[in-house]
Amino acid sequence: MENSQDHFEVLRKIQKEPETTQRKLAKDLGFSLGKLNYCLKALKEKGLIKTRNFKKNPNKINYFYVLTPRGISEKTRLTLNFMKRKMREYDELKDELKYEDNLNMENKNYGFVGRLSKKFPSQVMVDLTEVCNLACIHCTHPEFKLSTVYGKRMLDPELNKKMIKEVSTVGKGITKYIRYTSNGEPLVHPRSYEMIQDAVENSGTKVTLTTNGTLLNEKRMFKILKTGLHMIDISTDAASNDTYKKIRVGGDLDVTRSNILKLLKLREEANSKTKIIVSFVEQKENSHEVEDFKDYWQQRDVDEVLIRRLHSNSGSNLVDKLKSSDNQKNRRPCLYPWERVILNARGKLAFCPTDWYAKSELCSYHDKTIQETWQNTFYKDLRSQHIQCKFSNKFCKQCPDWRNTSWPFDENKSYADLVEKVLYNESV
Ligand SMILES: C[S@@+](CC[C@H](N)C(=O)[O-])C[C@H]1O[C@@H](n2cnc3c(N)ncnc32)[C@H](O)[C@@H]1O
Ligand code: SF4
Repeated sequence: MENSQDHFEVLRKIQKEPETTQRKLAKDLGFSLGKLNYCLKALKEKGLIKTRNFKKNPNKINYFYVLTPRGISEKTRLTLNFMKRKMREYDELKDELKYEDNLNMENKNYGFVGRLSKKFPSQVMVDLTEVCNLACIHCTHPEFKLSTVYGKRMLDPELNKKMIKEVSTVGKGITKYIRYTSNGEPLVHPRSYEMIQDAVENSGTKVTLTTNGTLLNEKRMFKILKTGLHMIDISTDAASNDTYKKIRVGGDLDVTRSNILKLLKLREEANSKTKIIVSFVEQKENSHEVEDFKDYWQQRDVDEVLIRRLHSNSGSNLVDKLKSSDNQKNRRPCLYPWERVILNARGKLAFCPTDWYAKSELCSYHDKTIQETWQNTFYKDLRSQHIQCKFSNKFCKQCPDWRNTSWPFDENKSYADLVEKVLYNESV
């Protein structure tokens, strides 16, 4: 490529000024004399130029170069290639500008900052199943279950393997954790333990699980600790059984709480390193119990007590509680297109973790890779829309949950900050 560019420059110059001196030619082209001689020799050997005697003018060297007919057609071909290449470079440059323009808004550096990477997602979320054993009031599942999109799907373990391979190679050092969760309850998947273990052993990154904890009997607790899982996050949402039953419909706090306590005990006995955290989605029905919840668990051996903000699952439920006419006011970019990709139970890659109705799906993971999807035009375009606060993507346009996402520079901490604190501060 470099040679053809040099050859093209020399041919162009010779055709324009055949009587020029070598020294002037070298100067005009910005070449050293050595480099020019090297090029001239190559062009001569290819039969693209020849020398002519030039004795009449004593001030000039006694020969000059002319293009042969082959030289003329080669120059035309190189010119065309040169033009094509320049046009390509221009388009690429224009695209880069389009996608990266205006990253700094209101002194906030939206874009690939901190742990976020252009090459590969810093977080891979895996939805193991669509099936659930509870019907929580803040969750979309009860409604989703009645929709035509619901299909009781379970993630194909082969896709889990494919994801692990990609994370361990392309995502090495970039993906901070794989988070197993679900549009349902992940431990309903009959091969969940095996898939999690595979990720722990082979992904080269941390692995976490979000579960309602209701299905954890002693045998399964041993199984889960045996996987070597780095962190388990148990959604609890209440300090009293009355509140629990109102929110986590179909569940019983006495069961969930005793499961967590048992797991803490087994962890100690097994000398396991798995971090155990309990979480609570704050909402009208339980806000009076936040302090009791914290007090209770902070006195136990859990690694973190997480109070989460309520969101609308991308506008799919809690519309009355959360959607208001000004939910688009002062809108800023949402973090998700820069942070994570979701592999869902349908075997699709999607860009939004709170999408229940397949509206943010990008492609089938059977056909594409995470890397090519992360870097494709759709994603670039989506980021560009967000950076410019245009939000023309139909799904993003209506979503009020952008407010809930926290960028690495924001004061409000995100789930990724929690994982960093719990899993990275001490061991990496
Ligand atoms: C969809 S669940 C799936 C995993 C599992 N079934 C569980 O309950 O942990 C994942 C997490 O999302 C939370 N969640 C569901 N709907 C939510 C909402 N509207 N706002 C905030 N968090 C929500 C749940 O409480 C849970 O902690
Ligand atoms: S929050 Fe979890 S347990 Fe509750 S309905 Fe949703 S998916 Fe099921």
